[in-house]
Amino acid sequence: MKNFSLTRREFLAASLIVSDVLFYRTAGGLDAVAATVELDPTPACADIDDITPPQTAGPFYKPRSPERKSLLEPGIQGSRIVLEGNVRSTKCKPVQGALVDFWQADGNGAYDNAGYRLRGHQFSDGAGRYRLDTVVPGVYPGRTRHFHVRVQAPNRPIVTTQLYFPGEPENKRDVIFNPKLVIALRNSAGAKTASFDFVLDLG
Ligand SMILES: [Fe+2]
Repeated sequence: MKNFSLTRREFLAASLIVSDVLFYRTAGGLDAVAATVELDPTPACADIDDITPPQTAGPFYKPRSPERKSLLEPGIQGSRIVLEGNVRSTKCKPVQGALVDFWQADGNGAYDNAGYRLRGHQFSDGAGRYRLDTVVPGVYPGRTRHFHVRVQAPNRPIVTTQLYFPGEPENKRDVIFNPKLVIALRNSAGAKTASFDFVLDLG
């Protein structure tokens, strides 16, 4: 017997068709137009191609990083940046308690492989939010500027990826650079602020 199952794309398409049918059967005139405007979905959440792409971990990952939301320590090289955003599913559900584990080079492009400088993990809050206080990673030979991160919803597979900076000259030459992984960067007084939302395929 053939199993009946829909891919997410098929499901989304079917849902849209059902919405249209209900709309036209139950509503009419100007009220219907107003209802349509109010019910518009958030475009980013309707785009199922939005899944955060995985990338290689590279050679510098270390397990058992400390739990902390700030990687700032005395003597850290680099200019301060706050990176924040959400962890959510492709169905727009915030993911609470997701592990978000960062590791990065310092402002000079150096990793701490002996200890845990510029390494740390945290868990997303009840609204799926995370926030990291850190420094802008420096570039090192062969790579453009990047953060490394592992994201894991509770009891789900780990997604390992990297985050990139906009407008970096080396983005064009880095063979694994992916524009879908570019942070939104804003310069503000005192520290740069940046945002990136992780979108996980949770079925
Ligand atoms: Fe790296």
